[in-house]
Amino acid sequence: MTTTKPRAAKAKRSTKASKVKGLEIDVQSADITKIDTPALVVNLFRGVKKPAGATGAVDKALGGLITQLIEDGEIKGSAGETTLIHTLGKIKPSRVLVAGLGPQDKFDAQVVRQVSAEIVRFLRRKGISSAATTAHGAGIGGLDPQLSGQAIAEGAHLGLYKFGVYLTKSGESTNEFEKLTVVELDKDRAKSIEVGVKLGCTIAQASITARNMVNEPANHMTPSRMAEAAQKVATNQGLRIEIMDNAQIKKMGMGAFMGVAQGTDEPAKLIVLRYDGDPSNPENNLGLIGKGITFDTGGISLKPPGGMEAMKGDMAGGASVIAAMEIIGQTKPKINVLAVIAATENMPGASAQRPGDVVRAMNGKTIEVINTDAEGRLVLADALCYARKQGITRLVDVATLTGAMVTTLGKACTGMMGNDDTLVQQTIDAGKKTGEKFWELPMFDEYKDLIKSDVADMKNSGGRQAGSISAALLLAEFVDGAAWVHLDIAGTSTSDKVSGYLVKGASGVPVRTLAQLASDLADAGAAKKSKSKAKAK
Ligand code: BES
Ligand code: MN
Ligand code: ZN
Repeated sequence: MTTTKPRAAKAKRSTKASKVKGLEIDVQSADITKIDTPALVVNLFRGVKKPAGATGAVDKALGGLITQLIEDGEIKGSAGETTLIHTLGKIKPSRVLVAGLGPQDKFDAQVVRQVSAEIVRFLRRKGISSAATTAHGAGIGGLDPQLSGQAIAEGAHLGLYKFGVYLTKSGESTNEFEKLTVVELDKDRAKSIEVGVKLGCTIAQASITARNMVNEPANHMTPSRMAEAAQKVATNQGLRIEIMDNAQIKKMGMGAFMGVAQGTDEPAKLIVLRYDGDPSNPENNLGLIGKGITFDTGGISLKPPGGMEAMKGDMAGGASVIAAMEIIGQTKPKINVLAVIAATENMPGASAQRPGDVVRAMNGKTIEVINTDAEGRLVLADALCYARKQGITRLVDVATLTGAMVTTLGKACTGMMGNDDTLVQQTIDAGKKTGEKFWELPMFDEYKDLIKSDVADMKNSGGRQAGSISAALLLAEFVDGAAWVHLDIAGTSTSDKVSGYLVKGASGVPVRTLAQLASDLADAGAAKKSKSKAKAK
């Protein structure tokens, strides 16, 4: 029989600190075989016959039990594999969980995120509420200890995530996993891990902000509530914020945005957040533009009823931009970031716009509204114009823009298009660090014919051919020479299954990449500057 020691009294935390729901992660400098924990998590690469490092130390203390299980073929070390061993008093931890890391040549921070999520969910299923773990990959894996800590925190928090706001009977009866301790013998390395864990918690918390907003039903997550959520981020992180209403949107000449907003009684909001990370260099900037359609019925070009409930997530782009600002406000990169979210419903109200209507965007260009369901590009057109007017020279827009993108790329990666190879590559590279994948589609001139209109400068639907590309080509008409990348997250903003750190529902994509990009651009800017300084000398 194994006995589990009573848990230490829960530390009192402010509601703010406990916002990464329920789970606390800390770092301890200690010998893992002597840790008092209901479960000690160690790991194994695939194909390893004789474990070394921390896993080896535990194996030795258990009289070669792990080696035996490997020999018997019960432990293979494949990614996400979990084997629970009761230690029967042989070592201080009452259980050991051996987690597979997969093949060593495919190992990276993303594997740590995925495996960490599987581990904590496994423990939760078993009714185990706390555990200690080695910093996966920080030893033999060759991963930077800080990165390991960050990936563990991100994976654990995101993997445990549940959206249970409206489940009246949940809570008490279900198991919760509450405390994870990362253990590392070396004090300096433990310090690095701790820095990573802190950053990972910040990033996970913001991703959860986005997930919550997307999962909220549209009768709750209205444009006004989106503005409130942005206001909360601004207040907590010390960002400037401006929230503009229908009258102001109209006054600025945002006819494309207003065309969509006129079909609903729900007040529209143009939400603008500002982070001034390099105030003396206004040209060092990045604009994050988000589609915030809190519900997309299609408007007069009404969508068919099957699956329409998913359109509560049509504000995922806007949510991800707000959440990215939550991270940026805390990590403080040396760059100015402007976030613009165009939030409204797309409803077929009595004063809704009609197919055939012509609207005029803020930059004066006219658009024939062929299909009122192609509303995302309309609201983004004006949001892009606004960012350009504010002097932004590098733009990234994020939108659940086209069903065609789900058909093209499915849910494995986000489709991207753009007019600037450098910014495209920088976004892809940021994604390689965060584990979020992007794939570029072409914007050849030949496609431009698709959105030619007889009565206006362009039309908002290009028909069935190359649907995602024709949508991007319309957006390109509003970036006015700025470097620009468009991220179509129609497929990736939600997950239809539990897998690694993704759970059913909102994914939080691409929150982490947007924040990473801001940080990378800031670093690239600083590097360029110091280089030109050196040249001048
Ligand atoms: N919000 C939808 C796109 C979408 C579809 C997102 C499925 C997530 C999942 C967008 O506003 C839309 O309706 N696009 C139309 C455009 C068409 C009318 C040109 C589409 O993709 O069908
Ligand atoms: Mn639509
Ligand atoms: Zn839409």
